[in-house]
Amino acid sequence: MADATTQHIAIIGAGLVGTGWSIVFARAGYAVRVFDAAVTRESLLDRLSQALDAMARYSLVDDVATILSRVEVVESIEAAVTGASYIQESVAEIVEVKRQVSAEIDRFLAPDAIVGSSTSGLPASSFTEECENRARFTVAHPVNPPHLIPVVEIVPAPWTDIDTVARTRTLMDNVGQAPVVLTREIPGFILNRLQGALLEEAWSLFEQGYASAADIDRTISHGLGLRWSFMGPFETIDLNAPGGIEDYARRFGPMFAGFAVDRRTSRWSDEGIARATAERRAALPSAALEARRAWRDERLMALLASFR
Ligand SMILES: NC(=O)c1ccc[n+]([C@@H]2O[C@H](COP(=O)([O-])OP(=O)(O)OC[C@H]3O[C@@H](n4cnc5c(N)ncnc54)[C@H](O)[C@@H]3O)[C@@H](O)[C@H]2O)c1
Repeated sequence: MADATTQHIAIIGAGLVGTGWSIVFARAGYAVRVFDAAVTRESLLDRLSQALDAMARYSLVDDVATILSRVEVVESIEAAVTGASYIQESVAEIVEVKRQVSAEIDRFLAPDAIVGSSTSGLPASSFTEECENRARFTVAHPVNPPHLIPVVEIVPAPWTDIDTVARTRTLMDNVGQAPVVLTREIPGFILNRLQGALLEEAWSLFEQGYASAADIDRTISHGLGLRWSFMGPFETIDLNAPGGIEDYARRFGPMFAGFAVDRRTSRWSDEGIARATAERRAALPSAALEARRAWRDERLMALLASFR
């Protein structure tokens, strides 16, 4: 497995997510070689500097200059992948692009190197089948931005070697991420299926007029989400009944099962989307979205700093 002193990490694709991955690995001490078909060295270093300076303000990193010095921008996939111990692919979410880039990575892969794809929803089996070293390809799906939100879903294709999964998990642990390992492929993996279930119910309540979008949001931001920033649903219910999870299931299971029975299928209706859009744009004009994203990232950094 990768040795922070002798082997480097390759980042293929340096948009939003690839930039974050560069920070994750450089912060952990790895030399990082980045290739992107369109991003220049100056623009990447500029984005990295801005992100790292913000992290330094929250004491999430110490030496910005040293971290930056570990990142090198190279001119080809070959230059990035040759000699790398781990390759994080973060190119556009288009299956044909993933297939072409995976084939190129495959050509230059060192004998013990492994590859993780950042794909949000494409199974690795849809773009690695033709790779000679397909047993060493897996999905390693982050949340944006990966340098501030540590969870990574590792999702093997049917032909991914179990050792590839184990080594990816160890690497992610070692660089400070929080790996979650799935036993097999499923659309949306775990995170987006959980997010999707919550969104289904949020849209359903909103479309039926039970509450405003702002009040539904407040239920999470000032309610459930406070606990969810440090524990998940199973631990939550284990603590919410005197006798633990089994007691909780006995007391409240029938109520929740009842909701499931009368839950209608989702519409994500045009009418509902138009109303939610009107409410959101009245609360936050489109021109202010970017500033609010920066505010969100500042809140995330403050939260991470509070966990230290
Ligand atoms: N943005 C998110 O919230 C998010 C979260 C998790 C995972 N992802 C996944 O991460 C991947 C990247 O997403 P993003 O949001 O960073 O997109 P992005 O558009 O910001 O970046 C994609 C980058 O890939 C580069 N690229 C495209 N084709 C290339 C090629 N053939 N060779 C080299 N570089 C190439 C582009 O120039 C661009 O810089 C996608 O698979 C996406 O689904 C995104």
